[in-house]
Amino acid sequence: MDGNGRWATRRYLPRVAGHKRGMDTLRNCVRLCGERGIRVLTVFAFSSENWKRPADEVSSLMDLLAGALGREVSLLQAEGVQLHFVGDRSPLSDKIRAGLVQAEAVTAGNQRLIFNICFNYGGRWDITQAAAALAARGEAITEASMNAAMSLAHVPDPDLLIRTGGERRLSNFLLWQAAYCEFYFSDKLWPEFDAQALDEALADFAQRERRFGRTSEQLAAPESKRAA
Ligand code: IPE
Ligand code: MG
Repeated sequence: MDGNGRWATRRYLPRVAGHKRGMDTLRNCVRLCGERGIRVLTVFAFSSENWKRPADEVSSLMDLLAGALGREVSLLQAEGVQLHFVGDRSPLSDKIRAGLVQAEAVTAGNQRLIFNICFNYGGRWDITQAAAALAARGEAITEASMNAAMSLAHVPDPDLLIRTGGERRLSNFLLWQAAYCEFYFSDKLWPEFDAQALDEALADFAQRERRFGRTSEQLAAPESKRAA
């Protein structure tokens, strides 16, 4: 979700106004995904690098998260959303950490849409914590054991990754999980990412041929003939 700050600056507003508008966009996006039958939505809300921003912006982002925990969870509950917070929680305040646990517990039984909010997340952090956990347990490091130890082990790898705001970078998001992901870059700033923009991304995705290392000819053949 990139472009909140620019959206605000272009309107002579403080950056936090962009983050607030971005929160409205996210609420709408969750609803749209549910309506479209998408089963998993994962968003990058705060990266491990975002701590380098000015202290007042960091604290506004923390306040927005704390406010959302109070306000939005009943709405997510009504929409059948199962919430997960993904990332290193250790530097967050006790109050926020308790709020994350509570929000996850309240929504744990919901099945319509799994909604992962990556907060103080980094792809390298995730790979490192997974490897460290395996090493601490004395387990062998294999692709399967790493998959099981990653912070997104509860969902399949993403099919489509959308980055808004015109940048064409991964910025330390889903490094492990994006191995076969389709990328879609939108020049729209996140606060402007509406239903039409989402549907354009989904239509673009629907046209892609996903070969997972195979050839087009293999994909055209019946399943039984595809092996090796
Ligand atoms: C993304 O918007 C939201 C967060 C990182 C929290 P930005 O804040 O990166 O917006 P720009 O890139 O400065 O416009
Ligand atoms: Mg940005």
